[in-house]
Amino acid sequence: MEQKERYSRWKDLTEQYLTGMLPQVDERSRRLYESMTYSLEAGGKRLRPILLLETCSLCGGSAERALPYACAVEFIHTYSLIHDDHPSMDNDDFRRGKPTNHRVFGDGMAILAGDGLLNSAFDIMLPEVRDAAGRGEDVLNLIQAVSEISGAAGVGGMIAGQAADLVHTGEAGDGSLHTPAAPETSGEDREDILLYIHRNKTGALIRGAVRAGAFVAGASREQVRLLTEYAENLGLAFQISDDILDVTGNAEILGKSTGMDEKLGKLTYPSVYGMELSHRKLQEATQRAVKAISLFGEQSAFLGELAIDLQNRVS
Ligand code: IPE
Ligand code: IPE
Ligand code: MG
Ligand code: MG
Ligand code: MG
Repeated sequence: MEQKERYSRWKDLTEQYLTGMLPQVDERSRRLYESMTYSLEAGGKRLRPILLLETCSLCGGSAERALPYACAVEFIHTYSLIHDDHPSMDNDDFRRGKPTNHRVFGDGMAILAGDGLLNSAFDIMLPEVRDAAGRGEDVLNLIQAVSEISGAAGVGGMIAGQAADLVHTGEAGDGSLHTPAAPETSGEDREDILLYIHRNKTGALIRGAVRAGAFVAGASREQVRLLTEYAENLGLAFQISDDILDVTGNAEILGKSTGMDEKLGKLTYPSVYGMELSHRKLQEATQRAVKAISLFGEQSAFLGELAIDLQNRVS
């Protein structure tokens, strides 16, 4: 199957399943439901669920069985975007080609929609694990998959990265819109902090999605090791390109505003290393990802090509 077709197949599967998983809320919570649905259905690349489904299938598992975990990761990712855009964080007006959640539903409801999506992720996964246990299956791998996702999204992963991102906001560019919350850091410190931010705020959930897919399939230790190496580098590359696109990208194609990182004084690859070196670091991380996944053999071609496509992405 062609790369694009395979991507679309996973994407369509995810979106069909996702629609069926929209949380049931009572009539009095209609606004909450609308707010959650608005951001979930606004679209997006669905990269993390696609990675999870592909990884599961690559390791010999059933993509169908991986769908609840894939969908849960997309719920968590969407929550992270709503909170990331909130006025108390990046204060962005556009996301996925539409006004941001808080611009439509208000600041408070945007917080609750994010909270709701996070909890719903577990409401999707855990009944699956319970039912599998009820059928007498060994559910250790499924519990591990949930644990990968929870850990990746949590204070040892995405939330830690977002917190560090916030603490160091205002330290680069002119930072005109923000007062730095921490003293100015420089030199090697900045490079270390930047890597910490990127590995956690973005890398962790990508790593968690890939590993969860592997665990659902009951992958071997060696498979998990190679996939982890792939995912860590892919995650870093993904955020480096996100930083680059904030400078050189087209807001309409991206579906979100550009130039915000500089305005906010964010620590980013372009602000710390300049554009040329950022491109080189993006290539290097991509190459490391491609190398790790190539050890899987021919069936891993999709993931290898995906890394290259993401390196060259415009949205
Ligand atoms: C945006 O993620 C936020 C980052 C972690 C860089 P995506 O670029 O995957 O956003 P969507 O899901 O396609 O909208
Ligand atoms: C966001 O990083 C990472 C998340 C956990 C959502 P950014 O703040 O750079 O993401 P964009 O550029 O707003 O999508
Ligand atoms: Mg941010
Ligand atoms: Mg942002
Ligand atoms: Mg960004």
